[in-house]
Amino acid sequence: MKKELTRLFKAACFLLLFGVFASPVWSVTDSHKLTLAVHPGTVVNINRTEASGSKCTVCVGEGSKMSCQPWAALAEAGKVSVTFTCTNPWDVFIVEIIKKIECKAKPCKHLVMPTDSQPLFEFNRTFHWCLRAPVRMTFHVDFSKMGLTQIAPSETCPDGHTYSLVALETTKNVQLGSFCASGTISGIQILNGGKVVLMVPGRQKLEAKDVNVFWGEDIKSLAIVNVGLPSDQSSQEFFSPDYPSSFPDDDLMTWNFNVPSGHEATVQFLDYSEPRCLKKEPGAEYKYEDLTVVRKLSDKQPTGEEGSFALSLRNCEMDVVRSRAEALGLTLHFRVSSIRTGSEEMCIVDLSKESSLSVYIAKKGTDSSCKLKLDSISVESIIVPPGKKSILSFRDCPEEDLLLTINKTIGCQQLRDCPSRPVPLIVPSLERCLPQSLNTVHWNLQAPEHGAVELWAYVGNLQQSLPGQECNSSVQFSVAKSDGTAIGQFCPGGIISEVQVHGNVTVSASPGNDLFLRRTFQTFFKVSFAKEITETYIFHIAPMKDVTSVLASPGWPGGMKPYSTASWIATVPATLEVHLSFTKVSQPKCSVRHTSIQVQTLGSREEMYSRREDEGGDSEIVIPESFYLNMSNCLPEKNSFSVMVEITPMKPRRLLLIIIVAVVGVLLMGMIIALVAVCVVIRKKKKQLAQQVSIYNPNGHSFLPGLHGLPKTMDNDDDVHIYDYIEDTLVYGHLLRDESKMDEYGKPAVDTYQPFNGPTDTMPLKDPEPLSGEPNGDADTEVGVYRPFVPPAETAAPASRPAAAQEGTDSQLGERLMEKELYSSGGGEGGSDAPLSPCSEVLGPWI
Ligand SMILES: *[C@@H]1O[C@H](CO)[C@@H](O)[C@H](O)[C@H]1NC(C)=O
Ligand SMILES: *[C@@H]1O[C@H](CO)[C@@H](O)[C@H](O)[C@H]1NC(C)=O
Ligand SMILES: *[C@@H]1O[C@H](CO)[C@@H](O)[C@H](O)[C@H]1NC(C)=O
Ligand SMILES: *[C@@H]1O[C@H](CO)[C@@H](O)[C@H](O)[C@H]1NC(C)=O
Ligand SMILES: *[C@@H]1O[C@H](CO)[C@@H](O)[C@H](O)[C@H]1NC(C)=O
Ligand SMILES: *[C@@H]1O[C@H](CO)[C@@H](O)[C@H](O)[C@H]1NC(C)=O
Repeated sequence: MKKELTRLFKAACFLLLFGVFASPVWSVTDSHKLTLAVHPGTVVNINRTEASGSKCTVCVGEGSKMSCQPWAALAEAGKVSVTFTCTNPWDVFIVEIIKKIECKAKPCKHLVMPTDSQPLFEFNRTFHWCLRAPVRMTFHVDFSKMGLTQIAPSETCPDGHTYSLVALETTKNVQLGSFCASGTISGIQILNGGKVVLMVPGRQKLEAKDVNVFWGEDIKSLAIVNVGLPSDQSSQEFFSPDYPSSFPDDDLMTWNFNVPSGHEATVQFLDYSEPRCLKKEPGAEYKYEDLTVVRKLSDKQPTGEEGSFALSLRNCEMDVVRSRAEALGLTLHFRVSSIRTGSEEMCIVDLSKESSLSVYIAKKGTDSSCKLKLDSISVESIIVPPGKKSILSFRDCPEEDLLLTINKTIGCQQLRDCPSRPVPLIVPSLERCLPQSLNTVHWNLQAPEHGAVELWAYVGNLQQSLPGQECNSSVQFSVAKSDGTAIGQFCPGGIISEVQVHGNVTVSASPGNDLFLRRTFQTFFKVSFAKEITETYIFHIAPMKDVTSVLASPGWPGGMKPYSTASWIATVPATLEVHLSFTKVSQPKCSVRHTSIQVQTLGSREEMYSRREDEGGDSEIVIPESFYLNMSNCLPEKNSFSVMVEITPMKPRRLLLIIIVAVVGVLLMGMIIALVAVCVVIRKKKKQLAQQVSIYNPNGHSFLPGLHGLPKTMDNDDDVHIYDYIEDTLVYGHLLRDESKMDEYGKPAVDTYQPFNGPTDTMPLKDPEPLSGEPNGDADTEVGVYRPFVPPAETAAPASRPAAAQEGTDSQLGERLMEKELYSSGGGEGGSDAPLSPCSEVLGPWI
């Protein structure tokens, strides 16, 4: 009602105006005049519609030069006055505004800005942008500023603005479809050019965004429609060109679907028809990144596939006569829907009561589709610092895409503030909603001023992971100084009872076998803090009898830090001696000071071994008691200082020999005594008068057969008593002192040492090369390669072919014309062909 009133009011206004300005030819009441500005390169057509049944004409010019006709074609740039012989010409006439977009040479780029012609506001307007070039080329029409949605040809757009796209083919224009503004179609590439048409109904303001047109890459299809599927759920429909008429004979049309990661797309053919074919068969070809699949139209189409793909619809070489007789053609109406495969997960991390714990979450790869949010803000990585409570959200984040790291600081400023008892390093328990795979826990251990950090195994000893004694525990611990200088990888077991490090230390735990770290409830380390130590590193070790343990300089296989010192304090049971062999020694060229390797016994402080980088040294030594093994680095100029040592405590061989000799001695003595006793008895029998008292033997100890035990005086000098207790140094220490001169026992018990020259061989510690590439990669590419458009029928019916070929171009043209008759303007009410005709003239030269 309101609209009607407005219309009436507007009409009244016009009448009033024309009452003043109208030409005298017509009465004030039955004419309508307006002035148009025609832009250069633009043609304005004003045509009377048949449907109106009106006799109204349009007159161009003024006064005597004025000519009146049912139509007007205004091609001359400039102002022109137009008069209609009726009062409501907008009900009788339609307006076409045609603009040519020409590409003469590469690169060619046009910005198409739709502009309305104000005086024609009341009329149904159709804007045509004709895309043409002097050579065959592909026009790329970029709609990315607004996007388009395809609609059925019979539908109209809710905002009244209907776009249609036309491709120029050899014999006719092909309707690529009707579209509404806003949607997922970001662009269309048209082979050989064509046109873009925008229809706006009368009395509606033109509201259209700019469109970019440029010379695109050559394509192999009639046209390519680029579609970017949105995130989340989506569903949209598409129609084959010229729908509901047949898609052109033997032609190809392509849609590119860009599927966001973490989404899967499903293609559904809602409705299709197939023509009679002479050769090949219609089909849909799907090209995924590394796979091509071809389906018949009757097949089930891809469902729930991940990854972007191109869908090409291919027609056969149609049997036009039979297809026409049976009213068949290739048509396709299909739907592409996509759903998100992942979902958003929320997690509240509350560290408000934590003073030393922080949580860090990062994406592993750059190509991950995972979206992280911290307190509703999108972020690349998340840090929740101590004392803070945050809401985290994860979208499409598979476990394996995330890295979860926890940092915990333990320490003290002054020694008196330090924890009085060793602190266990426990993997903190985390909110269940955090990623399950905790990748690393860093304990940042802050020593008091000038102080040291002391590390122990929580139970038992520690072992350093070195070649020949690799750690295979469920958790890997790496220990480093806080400046990043590595010390080594450690695990429970082994001979290290304590590690002392000067300054701050970071202990980092990461899963060893593929066990998740957060499921580790075991505690492996404990830590305490101490006052300053004399060396950079001190290792307290308790080597085990007959077990060979490997020790290496801190940071192995890298070199020690310049000027740093390390000391191993080895406590060995008194009955054992230690075989120490330097299995690998890498010496630098020093610019300041020298490197040193020293071995010193603990008890006597006797230096047993000393070596510098500029001197050689024995590769194997035997140490009779607990000892220090000290190393210190210089400031290397070239190469680095690293040492690997094997230590094996064992019972001294010499001791064994002594025991054997002693046993043999005792046996011999026993025999001698027995012999003496026998002699005495014989003699006694001979001298029957002799007294039965003890016999004194001044040369040795003897006893009467009737007496048991040994006289007390024997204790001090009888070797037999070595069995009970051996004072190591007293018994065989003197023998070891000139070890190097002894051949028999000085030889290494293990393999002979090969002096280590040249650079340290780091090979054994390198990770094995990861397997690159998939096996059978080549074979895989073969799978799914399908050549569908060469049907076996081709060989089966060769007779039909020459006949068709001989008929030549005339026959083909005839067929095409028939096809045009049959398939064009099948759209019905849409009447889409009629308003498009002006451009086909513009495109004429290329037909
Ligand atoms: C203008 O378009 C409307 C529909 O959008 C139609 O009903 C009307 O008949 C058209 N006017 C003319 C003169 O064709
Ligand atoms: C956690 O500690 C490690 C080792 O000290 C350090 O490299 C890293 O920057 C710390 N991360 C955060 C988020 O503080
Ligand atoms: C891992 O260690 C256990 C005992 O600590 C041992 O039995 C096993 O053989 C080791 N496995 C490997 C692969 O070294
Ligand atoms: C240890 O860390 C604390 C805190 O970061 C720092 O103040 C101190 O200087 C560090 N000590 C050393 C020896 O680097
Ligand atoms: C070896 O290191 C220990 C422990 O730090 C130290 O007491 C000893 O004096 C050092 N010995 C030599 C010869 O440097
Ligand atoms: C309108 O008139 C022009 C000029 O005669 C003609 O070329 C064009 O095809 C006509 N358009 C329609 C839709 O009839």
